[in-house]
Amino acid sequence: MKLWGGRFTKPANQLVDEYTASIHFDKKLAHHDIKGSLAHVRMLKKCGIVTENDADMIVDGLQSVANKIEHGEAELIEEHEDIHMNVEKLLIDEIGPVGGKLHTGRSRNDQVALDMRLYLREVVLELVQLLTDVQESLYKQATANVDTILPGYTHLQRAQPVLFAHHMLAYLFMFQRDVERLDDSLKRINKMPLGAGALAGTTFPIDREYVARELDFDGVCENSLDAVSDRDFVVEFLADASIISMHLSRLCEEMVQWSSAEFNFIELDDAFCTGSSMMPQKKNPDVPELVRGKTGRVYGHLTGMLTTLKGLPLAYNKDMQEDKEGMFDTAETLRGALALFAPMIETMHVKKESMYAAVRQDYSNATDLADYLTGKGMTFRESHEAVGNIVLHCIHQGKYLLDLSLNEFKSFASLIEADIFEALSPEAVVNARKANGGTGKESVRNQLEQASELLREN
Ligand code: ARG
Repeated sequence: MKLWGGRFTKPANQLVDEYTASIHFDKKLAHHDIKGSLAHVRMLKKCGIVTENDADMIVDGLQSVANKIEHGEAELIEEHEDIHMNVEKLLIDEIGPVGGKLHTGRSRNDQVALDMRLYLREVVLELVQLLTDVQESLYKQATANVDTILPGYTHLQRAQPVLFAHHMLAYLFMFQRDVERLDDSLKRINKMPLGAGALAGTTFPIDREYVARELDFDGVCENSLDAVSDRDFVVEFLADASIISMHLSRLCEEMVQWSSAEFNFIELDDAFCTGSSMMPQKKNPDVPELVRGKTGRVYGHLTGMLTTLKGLPLAYNKDMQEDKEGMFDTAETLRGALALFAPMIETMHVKKESMYAAVRQDYSNATDLADYLTGKGMTFRESHEAVGNIVLHCIHQGKYLLDLSLNEFKSFASLIEADIFEALSPEAVVNARKANGGTGKESVRNQLEQASELLREN
């Protein structure tokens, strides 16, 4: 018999039960649901809405239901649709009709909003921790590579050399913004919706602030219609998760490229790679590939949730039950990726010599030759033209800038002196970028200090 069966003349069609039930996924919220109910019934008791005796029985009953669920001893069934009705039914089975007083002054609509918020704030805190671990691993690689020079790219064409530490720190600062975004989202997640009832509030003399304090919320939702209607805090989480996934995916793409024979810049530890069923020589960077691939499902959940909500009139609509699976899957997906990422980065072998050899075999010091000429009095446009000619000459000759003799240099620009050879060395080129935020060693040391400060605060 349904808990809401009074108005009905016959049982629901079996297919309807199956189609509308959410218990197979929202059972994940069992713990949060019971936690919320405990706070609710304590408030009912405190406000004299339910007698002490009854409230105490309900508290005990909820605790034993929680125990049974935890130990797999409770049957959560489709007939009771979702976690809220299942828990209430189990409670009534446990302590009898007095269990029916739990739902006084409450609706599943404010209850489910509460459960979602309780769940999500835990997830957010966990993801912040996992992101911080990834930042730590990037910090370690950066510290170990303040002397490692590799080509920096634009358009995936070699552009100017950079320090590998600089490259690692770029991601560290991206993940810092992700941490800050998640932290900030807690302001909006951590508001208590109970008391909204189904949509209009409740006639009982409840104390919402008491419930909020019991459950460590920062305050209560201001408007009952808003409290049960919106899931913007879920959308925001999915958006934050999408940005994190995008950042992870870009780093993954670089790791995949860098692992190839063509780049040969890193080697991932064997523990983070897999082999081929056919080709014995293969060592594939499956982990970064899969993290990159899973970005799609996270973006999908964001788009899905936005689309589900876009046409809904106030207040609660059953459509909103679709808010859960995407949220759960996103949490799971990020948890999996981030947990692998920190050890994968930390154990990654950086092929310093190979990076350096790449820098020696490119024209990524051409800007510095132009800057040199500008320093000697040419306009930048003139020096750009002259250096373009020199590079073209080198390409025809199969040479790089540092292979030219002083006389060859002078035949293009008489202003060039013997100090050019030092000025064009990879070390000099990198270190010339002293300005704050640049790739020069001083600036990178400064960034490392800023990063370590951030990590101490996170
Ligand atoms: N299972 C529902 C959900 O997740 C709970 C709220 C149901 N409320 C209702 N009036 N049917 O959205």
